[in-house]
Amino acid sequence: MNKISLLLVTGILLMCCRKNTIQDKREKSRGFIAENAMVVSAKEEASKIGLDIMKLGGNAFDAMVATDLALLVSYPVAGNIGGGGFMVFRMADGTTGALDYREMAPISATKNMYLDQEGKVVSDKSKTGALAIGVPGTIAGLFEIHNKFGTISIEKLIQPAINLANNGVVITLAQAKRLNQHKVSFRNVNQRRILYDKQWRAGDTIKNPLLAKTLERIKTEGRDGFYKGKTADFIVNKVQNLGGIITTEDLENYNVKWRDPIIFNYNDHKIISMPPPSSGGICLAQILKTIEPFNISQYKHNSSKYIQLIVEAERRSYADRAYFLGDPDFVDIPTDSLTSNKYLSQRMKSFNWNKATKSSELSRGSFLGYESDETTHYSIVDHKGNSVSVTTTLNGAYGSKVFVDKGGFFLNNEMDDFSAKPGTPNMFGLIGAEANSIVAKKRMLSSMSPTIIETNAKLKMVLGTPGGSTIITTVLQNIINVLDYKMTMQESVSKPRFHHQWFPDNIKFETSFDTTVFSPLKKLGYKVDTSNFLVIGKTDAILVLPDGRLEGGADPRGDDKAEGF
Ligand code: GLY
Repeated sequence: MNKISLLLVTGILLMCCRKNTIQDKREKSRGFIAENAMVVSAKEEASKIGLDIMKLGGNAFDAMVATDLALLVSYPVAGNIGGGGFMVFRMADGTTGALDYREMAPISATKNMYLDQEGKVVSDKSKTGALAIGVPGTIAGLFEIHNKFGTISIEKLIQPAINLANNGVVITLAQAKRLNQHKVSFRNVNQRRILYDKQWRAGDTIKNPLLAKTLERIKTEGRDGFYKGKTADFIVNKVQNLGGIITTEDLENYNVKWRDPIIFNYNDHKIISMPPPSSGGICLAQILKTIEPFNISQYKHNSSKYIQLIVEAERRSYADRAYFLGDPDFVDIPTDSLTSNKYLSQRMKSFNWNKATKSSELSRGSFLGYESDETTHYSIVDHKGNSVSVTTTLNGAYGSKVFVDKGGFFLNNEMDDFSAKPGTPNMFGLIGAEANSIVAKKRMLSSMSPTIIETNAKLKMVLGTPGGSTIITTVLQNIINVLDYKMTMQESVSKPRFHHQWFPDNIKFETSFDTTVFSPLKKLGYKVDTSNFLVIGKTDAILVLPDGRLEGGADPRGDDKAEGF
């Protein structure tokens, strides 16, 4: 072998070794791997119950119903039948759709219901207690999904949650801390002691036999077991006793809506996400399409340049969100204009690498031709390749804190997601306008962004997160992590995150974030806020690997768990 050939062979060997080392490292950093099917959710019990349904031959939709109800029992901070949610699905054949089972404003809700005589917002009223509650949608949503796509009897799907409620849930340290933290407000709001009002410790078991009975009624009477009869009476009595306005008519009239997902391309990938009344899909489209021409992966991940570009795209998108978005059944939303490349590049004309844009100097865009924090997300893929991405919520932790004692469940405080008064921020600091004002039977604007990604016409990723206004930017960062920075699903989910939402005009960083980026950002005029942001979002996601196996990304910020087979 001559010298040149020797060098060539050595070079090739070194390259192969390096490739293998990278490959090995990548494999080590992967999350839980399964061959056929997977559920990733906020609680091990819920992921297992969903998976068991698929082991019995059920599909992703069957698993969704069982997982959701298991979260209701095992994760009362956000799992719910007293709240609502959104689901985006993609069938193995590529068909997609979205179900909106968001809460609705009660019939007697009015635009100024949270204002005092001087026209000032009495902010607590929309956040805590009986007036904060929207008409719940979860049970209607689950039955709609089961009627359309279910293959296993509803009784079989509900039974595991009934068993869990009767046998009890062993709580984790995080859960015990959370419950203890809200003990006083449970008592204040309910004006009596409730099941969850105790001093809890990790390892304690919570049984909820009255919730088991509610689920039994739903099992035998169908959705009427919630929206009519005993359960409905329990809800209405409790809410009205505490000064709320929900009536039996509100419950009887609740309806779900099938919606067309927001679908757009980002580089070679097709992103499928939630349309209004969520702002998620439109904002993700705006932000990703704004950064696309910049080829973001040329910048070091989480470097100041990377943060700067994303923040400026986020700032512009959240400014539009505040003005244009609301329930599409009540307001016209100029989706095509808002997500057009022409409009988005126009919006970035004021962007300058040398200086932060001031939110106070940036408003919604214009074009010709007008056309919470506690939520939970789970992702499911079944053995056929059907996928569902579900984000469901009570809004704040334990919602309004109103507990339907006789039914064993909490009710949401979703009314706070409306704009109580244009320009006044809600609990997430989000500002809204007329498009999101309160009207009877209207759905409040959301940030929940259940999302599915397709590459070369094949399923690539299923993801979503809780986190109120930070939901969109958390989903965004996970999309970029995997698609642009080639991270494994688990690496992506675990990476420190940041967030900007136009107002307040500052960048929030998780406390684990590398602080060396703060000084260059501050020099450019960005405000850095590290307070109270231990955690931004809890992403539960599934990545389809090139060989077809599934990698789960369960967020280490919570007790989240991937289960699969
Ligand atoms: N309640 C949080 C959201 O819907 O965005």
